[in-house]
Amino acid sequence: MKPFSSLLPAAVLAVAAGLPALAAAEKLTISCGAVGAELQLCREGVEAWSKQTGHSVEVVSTPNSATERLSFYQQILSAQSSDIDIIQIDVVWPGMLANHLLDLNEVLPTASTQGYFQAQLDNATVAGRLVTLPWFTDSGLLYYRKDLLEQYGKPVPQTWDELTATAKAIQQAERDAGNANMWGYVFQGRAYEGLTCNALEWIGSHPGGALIDPQGQIAVDSPATRQALSLAKSWVGDISPRGVLNYTEEEGRGVFQSGNAVFMRNWPYVWALAQSADSAVKDKVAIAPLPKGGPDGKHASTLGGWGLSISRYSAQPKLAGELVAYLTSAREQKHRALVSAYNPVIESLYQDPELLAAMPYYSDLHAILSDGVMRPASITGDRYPRVSNALFDRVHGVLAGETPVDQAVSELHGELKRIKRRSW
Ligand code: GLC
Repeated sequence: MKPFSSLLPAAVLAVAAGLPALAAAEKLTISCGAVGAELQLCREGVEAWSKQTGHSVEVVSTPNSATERLSFYQQILSAQSSDIDIIQIDVVWPGMLANHLLDLNEVLPTASTQGYFQAQLDNATVAGRLVTLPWFTDSGLLYYRKDLLEQYGKPVPQTWDELTATAKAIQQAERDAGNANMWGYVFQGRAYEGLTCNALEWIGSHPGGALIDPQGQIAVDSPATRQALSLAKSWVGDISPRGVLNYTEEEGRGVFQSGNAVFMRNWPYVWALAQSADSAVKDKVAIAPLPKGGPDGKHASTLGGWGLSISRYSAQPKLAGELVAYLTSAREQKHRALVSAYNPVIESLYQDPELLAAMPYYSDLHAILSDGVMRPASITGDRYPRVSNALFDRVHGVLAGETPVDQAVSELHGELKRIKRRSW
């Protein structure tokens, strides 16, 4: 049964609670959060704002996979539906969704963007319109079991070959010691955006490796790509379970957090969950930069992150702007970083003493962020989803043992050429 209070309009409740009465309480809908504690955190922020303002807000959940979330939003936006006012968008989406999104400069107080990293605002701005307000930033990290590395006398791997050898040795030793479920390495191997992020790291960490170079030239047909894909293929069924072919972020986290993997590639949010009271690996985990592709390669970490945007078809853009400003405020960003390791996009928070004390890995993170690899989203604009799909489909075929590496690389090169016009 519904509680009695749910039958009363929010404004009446606000008055009853001694809060400022508002002219008329309105209802907003926001779609936010998916992986980890995100949805819960978003709900909490929204509820706090609702209490303060008396407006009720419906929170709509989305699928975990970024690719499925994109098609969900594309359907809603192309139908010009006013059902959802605020959506949470990926750093690689502003260019392709811009036409459906409001210019936030029209509804937000200018103070809302104060202190933001300029690169974040640049990425959020399309043809002079601020189409999203960045909320948190992500970068690919190597999580490892520090207890196991210590026990077996292994250093933190600097190259993928070292990672492979260490993963293999510890996996075997642990299985011999009775843990039949132990695996060496888990990552995001499903055919979706997460695999694009992983594949760009493998390729970008090898000397000269790139999908598309900074000038927009297709650069994928190279020894670096062949080496990277051959290496990743060798993991499946050996140090990585075959199930990895269907893993998004959360499936890999499940394996690692229950103590059944030595290494994992994932985003920063996992830190807070792996360190939570009910985690089997609490205090046994550390993070490091993802390995290099050989001694002459480099650490490469795909940059990710999400922002909040207002649909152009929202019936209440001003009010939606107030909620976006509240959720992305420095106070909320700090809270979300402290409790769930969602990394802020406001520069000064990286010097916040409370945050620095609570996040021992922040100093490592700074170096990792500077090795960041951007996905070629701004250069390919509205073609980015096709580019990413081409990459993750071919790479998935390689990992699944369906397509030989050479064939996959030349097919990918051909497909990118077809997707590209004269310029992107
Ligand atoms: C994370 C990143 C996002 C990326 C996604 C892929 O959510 O923040 O940018 O597209 O993972 O799975």
